[in-house]
Amino acid sequence: MLTARLSRPLSKLPGKTLSFPNRENGTRYTLQFYPASFVPVGHRTYADAVNPVGSKAVLVTGCDSGFGFSLAKHLHSKGFLVFAGCLMKDKGDVGVKELDSLKSDRLRTVQLNVCKSEEVEKVVEIVRTSLEDPEKGMWGLVNNAGISTFGEVEFTSMETYKEVAEVNLWGTVRVTKSFLPLIRRAKGRVINISSMLGRMANPARSPYCITKFGMEAFSDCLRYEMHPLGVKVCVVEPGNFIAATSLYSPERIQAIADKMWNELPEVVRKDYGKKYFDEKTATMHTYCNSGSTDTSPVIDAVTHALTAAKPYTRYHPMDYYWWLRMQIMTHLPGAISDRIYIH
Ligand SMILES: NC(=O)c1ccc[n+]([C@@H]2O[C@H](COP(=O)([O-])OP(=O)(O)OC[C@H]3O[C@@H](n4cnc5c(N)ncnc54)[C@H](OP(=O)(O)O)[C@@H]3O)[C@@H](O)[C@H]2O)c1
Repeated sequence: MLTARLSRPLSKLPGKTLSFPNRENGTRYTLQFYPASFVPVGHRTYADAVNPVGSKAVLVTGCDSGFGFSLAKHLHSKGFLVFAGCLMKDKGDVGVKELDSLKSDRLRTVQLNVCKSEEVEKVVEIVRTSLEDPEKGMWGLVNNAGISTFGEVEFTSMETYKEVAEVNLWGTVRVTKSFLPLIRRAKGRVINISSMLGRMANPARSPYCITKFGMEAFSDCLRYEMHPLGVKVCVVEPGNFIAATSLYSPERIQAIADKMWNELPEVVRKDYGKKYFDEKTATMHTYCNSGSTDTSPVIDAVTHALTAAKPYTRYHPMDYYWWLRMQIMTHLPGAISDRIYIH
């Protein structure tokens, strides 16, 4: 077990043998690495998935598009009873229509704005009454709903900070608290979709980073508390998949930029100037098509977290550049990592 845990990050080193003693019983552990162990981080081969799926019930939030949409379909194909929380179900969004078109009684879309307590409580009731035996609880909750924005601290209004936190952070806390009684009964799983930006910050992303760092702290506290109760709490930290999801679109970026500029205090507008502001907006536009277009590393990570007997605490579906950057930024002194990546 310890060997496997250690070998995961170290498996990036080809052709090496490491040996170390166990001081308690005198035996030696040996770790052997081969070039063949080089697998892209996002496509890491996972340990056996051992928990039979049956039709365990899972709620995924934010299924109108992106990861949530793909997850709802994938988990359904794996045999789960999927409740797909959709922000726009009542408005008949295209994603909802596609999920409904599967016409399966194991895939049910439900209206769910994670910021609205009354909608969350309604979904708890829908799930509870759909379960064969509510006393046995439900298996999984995937907190996926999220929004993003951009802008330097001085460009970001307090309203924006609160708006992003309301969905990403308080939405996650709200939904989790409401579903824990059911999850506890099943000794089930809570999977939180954080981000690599929940581990390392980035300039011009403070409203998003704050919420994802908060989500990480919430997940850790919950994991400690739930451990004795048999509930497992996992965090998935995707890298850059912007091109594959609806997190950013050119229209959305422009709308955010226009609103931001219009609402800027005069002193900030004057000090930074429109040229600087427009350059930053243009940089954000270039991100729209950046990142991986293949969401399967994220989908695989969530599936593993829901099905493996011993899921990982954290999953890192991201390419090597971001994986290495995250290791350096989280393990080396700030003075070094700032120099490498920020300044
Ligand atoms: N894409 C990436 O590169 C990336 C990287 C790291 C982490 N993530 C995280 O992955 C998660 C999924 O995002 P995504 O990339 O798949 O983007 P996405 O396509 O925009 O999906 C986010 C979903 O959340 C929904 N949503 C927004 N506000 C909501 C609310 N108040 N209540 C319920 N649902 C709400 C959105 O609905 P509408 O479409 O109707 O607005 C959308 O369906 C997010 O938590 C995001 O932070 C994404």
